[in-house]
Amino acid sequence: MSVNSKSGSDMGNKSSVRIEAWGEGDLPLLKKTLGDPAMTRHLGGPESDEQLVKRQTLFERLAEEGKGRMFKIIHVDTGEAVGSVGYWDSTHNGKEIYETGWFVIPAFQGMGIASMATTLAIAMARSDGKHRFLHAFPSVENPPSNAVCRKLGFTLVEECEFEYPKGHFMRCNDWRLDLLG
Ligand SMILES: CC(C)(COP(=O)(O)OP(=O)(O)OC[C@H]1O[C@@H](n2cnc3c(N)ncnc32)[C@H](O)[C@@H]1OP(=O)(O)O)[C@@H](O)C(=O)NCCC(=O)NCCS
Repeated sequence: MSVNSKSGSDMGNKSSVRIEAWGEGDLPLLKKTLGDPAMTRHLGGPESDEQLVKRQTLFERLAEEGKGRMFKIIHVDTGEAVGSVGYWDSTHNGKEIYETGWFVIPAFQGMGIASMATTLAIAMARSDGKHRFLHAFPSVENPPSNAVCRKLGFTLVEECEFEYPKGHFMRCNDWRLDLLG
């Protein structure tokens, strides 16, 4: 699945990305995202090597276990893996939902890549048809991530306390997208 787009802030620079299912060889990308201190500033800090290996297994199995999908984001021009996007089963206020999240490595930020890749992931979540609502819970202190939600048509439900990772609480915005809408 791929898409071309011009972001509002980057009209002159056309980028194209595709998303591919997370695979066995993608641990290095996980280290550049969930293992990186700057990338996890709003997420309670980087995961240890041991946690990353466990997460790699989780990501590889997510789709076959029917619990969601994790993708790597590929920059079409360079073929480089520049980030990740995915959605997974979760519960929120007692309801079964999909939760989503995204990462784009610093050299590729600000080019509309998270927005494009998330648009593709939303189309997949919609076609899976498992849950009606897709939620994102970016920290209130994470403007780019909140901007992705706003831009892609999520509705801001409320500000809430969110535990991620376990034992780490942060103020988040609860954004919701109706996949049937
Ligand atoms: C959040 C993240 C994925 C965004 O990636 P990206 O590819 O740079 O995002 P985009 O280029 O699609 O930009 C999305 C919007 O954010 C806006 N934005 C970027 N930086 C911003 C800032 N500091 N303040 C306000 N808006 C900002 C952009 O202008 C864009 O909106 P626009 O197209 O209407 O102009 C990236 O910053 C990242 O990986 N952060 C670390 C991981 C993380 O926090 N993930 C979120 C977990 S919920």
